[in-house]
Amino acid sequence: MLREGQATAVYRADYQAPAWWIDTVELTFDLDPAKTRVLNRMRVRRNPDVPAQALRLDGDELNLARVMVNGGGTSFKMDGDQLVLENLPEGNEPVELEIFTTCAPAKNTKLMGLYVSEDTFFTQCEAEGFRRITYFLDRPDVMAMYTVTLRANKALYPVLLSNGNLVDSGALEDGRHFAKWVDPHKKPSYLFALVAGRLVAREQKIKSRAGREHLLQVYVRPGDLEKTEHAMNSLMHSVAWDEARFGLSLDLDRFMIVATSDFNMGAMENKGLNIFNTKYVLASQATATDTDFFNIESVVGHEYFHNWTGNRITCRDWFQLSLKEGLTVFRDQEFSMDMAGSASARAVKRIDDVRVLRTVQFPEDSGPMAHPVRPDSYIEINNFYTVTIYEKGAEVVRMQHNLVGREGFAKGMKLYFERHDGQAVTCDDFSQAMADANPGSPLAQHLAQFRRWYSQAGTPVLKATGQYDAAAQTYTLTLSQSCAPTPGQSEKLPFVIPMQMGLLTADGQEIALQLQGEDGAQAAKSRLLVVTEAEQQFIFTHVTEAPVPSLLRSFSAPVVLDCEFSDAELLTLLAHDSDPFNQWEASQRLGLRHALKTIAADADAESASGQFSTHVLPESFVQALRGVLQNTQLDAAFKDLVLTLPSESYIAEQLAEVDPQRVHAVREAMQLQLATALQADWEAAWEAHRDTGAYQPDHVSAGRRALAGRALSMLCLHAAQTGDEVWPGKAYQRCKDAGNMTDRTAALSALLYCASPLAEQALQRFHALFKQDALVLDKWFALQGGACDRGGNVLPAVKALLKHADFQIKNPNRARSLIFSYCSNPGAFHRADAAGYVFWADRVVELDSINPQVAARLARVMDRWKKLAEPYRSAARAAIERVAAKPNLSNDVREVISRTLAD
Ligand code: TRP
Ligand code: ZN
Repeated sequence: MLREGQATAVYRADYQAPAWWIDTVELTFDLDPAKTRVLNRMRVRRNPDVPAQALRLDGDELNLARVMVNGGGTSFKMDGDQLVLENLPEGNEPVELEIFTTCAPAKNTKLMGLYVSEDTFFTQCEAEGFRRITYFLDRPDVMAMYTVTLRANKALYPVLLSNGNLVDSGALEDGRHFAKWVDPHKKPSYLFALVAGRLVAREQKIKSRAGREHLLQVYVRPGDLEKTEHAMNSLMHSVAWDEARFGLSLDLDRFMIVATSDFNMGAMENKGLNIFNTKYVLASQATATDTDFFNIESVVGHEYFHNWTGNRITCRDWFQLSLKEGLTVFRDQEFSMDMAGSASARAVKRIDDVRVLRTVQFPEDSGPMAHPVRPDSYIEINNFYTVTIYEKGAEVVRMQHNLVGREGFAKGMKLYFERHDGQAVTCDDFSQAMADANPGSPLAQHLAQFRRWYSQAGTPVLKATGQYDAAAQTYTLTLSQSCAPTPGQSEKLPFVIPMQMGLLTADGQEIALQLQGEDGAQAAKSRLLVVTEAEQQFIFTHVTEAPVPSLLRSFSAPVVLDCEFSDAELLTLLAHDSDPFNQWEASQRLGLRHALKTIAADADAESASGQFSTHVLPESFVQALRGVLQNTQLDAAFKDLVLTLPSESYIAEQLAEVDPQRVHAVREAMQLQLATALQADWEAAWEAHRDTGAYQPDHVSAGRRALAGRALSMLCLHAAQTGDEVWPGKAYQRCKDAGNMTDRTAALSALLYCASPLAEQALQRFHALFKQDALVLDKWFALQGGACDRGGNVLPAVKALLKHADFQIKNPNRARSLIFSYCSNPGAFHRADAAGYVFWADRVVELDSINPQVAARLARVMDRWKKLAEPYRSAARAAIERVAAKPNLSNDVREVISRTLAD
């Protein structure tokens, strides 16, 4: 017998169509924070394709008051959390069910289902939150038509919103009022939403290409209205983009976004009523950074694009989550690139996306939580909203795009909608439509094999070796692929890997690419090779000198490219490759290689204090970076990326055993070397870029600010070594009078980074200026949790901040800003005295009793503990075991912890 609430795994292979359908739902809410009454009247009917079964409705933390069938009483029983109706009328006639329940929104700290945030009601139903509102078939393949009536006190809750169109509203007795909403589209329960509170809206009327009029609204708390302009612009751009690029128009008269400061994730695509974390709505130049502005555009786009990819066509079951998420991330990435404009700005976006993939998803794919893009089982679905589902899923869609081409992809999307609009489908249905719309394409040829990207976890390694035959003038490229085992999957079969590539001469000219047996007339300078075998050779002819290969251009597949380049070859790619992604990649490879070399070097070579010499990077590389800084042809944003060294976590991923303090020290030594050797160039970069004129969050001026910020940080770092006070003084000045948040936070973090005595004062000023603004306070906490550690000073500061009057552990943004930023700050977190890990364990347990979803995310910080060197490894195990030993852990945290302890 299972303990109550103890969940077992769900398996994809066990999928069965529902025994009942729900055609219509009529919900009536009497909203009250302490006790909300929910009347649910639905019309259900037996699924004729499935043997007759009882109706089992999901519920969670509900108080059941009454159940009626066709207007009369009925017998029912409870089976765990499920309400079971065994004696419903036989036959295929619809049955009227009426279920009356209550719930307690004010006590809902999980932020799933119906909850209260700052005196406003919100819902979050994905993935399984609707069952916390009423008994239902809470699964995405049950799609129903919704009519919703909201009733509440009019003074406290003047705005009453739900999905679809407002069809009626008016006054009720006792100062109450009501609003009735009808959604014209059928939908799964996870897309249901309601909002009720004192809100104001920015409104915009638009006309679609097709001539239809729509009302767009962005709802926020009074006082925040001026901060909604960018979100509204982003929404208008999203609507126009989906029409232009995919021919997909808005299918509603009214489209609403509502912002809340209490939210577990970024945002939610509820039909016609998107609910957003304030972080992805509110922006002004004084309070939001350039990154915030770009994130808002991207998240507004993402949720809007779900209207077609997710809502019109939804998922058959939660194993298919990437069907909507991978595809929608791909779409928002393309949207951001199209909005960015220039080729350089597009490349910067691509590099940013790949950086996230490689620093977060690749570790996930080789850690204890590794799972396929379409998982085979889960205990808690909330744990599977991962970078694998989202970001790797987007790469799997991008590979299909690469294999059928841009036009072919548009055709595939068209066929996908022709076939499946209004249905709940699978990842297989998507790739089938893509392949069927593009017969003869490499995707169609290799579809069955391509699908391994959905079923096999793990990051493939693509090993490339080149051989030049001067006499024959041929260059033979040998590509072999392998993939390490992941939990539960020991054997991996070869993937279909689209590899975009070119060949360069030593002085950077591009060579025409002619494969053996081909006619040279159409030889291109960049082409797609499709790797399908474990090992494959490609022989290029008419190659007149030993070439430098530029492989995996634009990161055309989510693989680790293992290729032994010389420093000289990488410098050639950095200077000359026509693919900006690979130019950047060459700089990363150079930085990484020398970091790894120094980390691996004899420990005796460094002084006992753990200080590394500041000559980690060879002069040739430093010189090349100087060339990049001085190059007037390159965009500032691109320069900033090239001058960004690989992160500590990315470096750590390359090591079999990680001493985090050693990694930290080596990376800091590299930083110091760049600060010192390029001091004059940083000064010039600062002077040239620090003034960006009137604030505009466009890519060109954002790039200038990014480079100026990096320059300031490097100049302060150098100053800290020499005792110079000028640069920290300038940074302090900038903190005081910056005209925008990007410059202000860059200056503040420069002071923190160089441990300037001015940092404390700057922090206090910052707090005094922004103590009324929750999102800015989040930055203030995050800067301190993420500060560069000096002699273990960060943890005591973080512990003190836990007691700060503005710290609120129940608010996910605030908890993330302090706790998560500290626990993902490697130099400060991995302490030889284990105090960082103890802090982590305490916070996981504390958060778990409040909000399991947020706690489980924090638990994941320890994913890679098995790679740690001693004494860290034993200390980490002890901390994880402390968490594991706690009684009453949520399924969320238990699943993560038990996977991380499993061997
Ligand atoms: N579907 C949402 C998105 O990707 C994700 C999401 C928002 C979510 N809130 C959630 C998922 C809560 C699980 C739980 O845009
Ligand atoms: Zn999404």
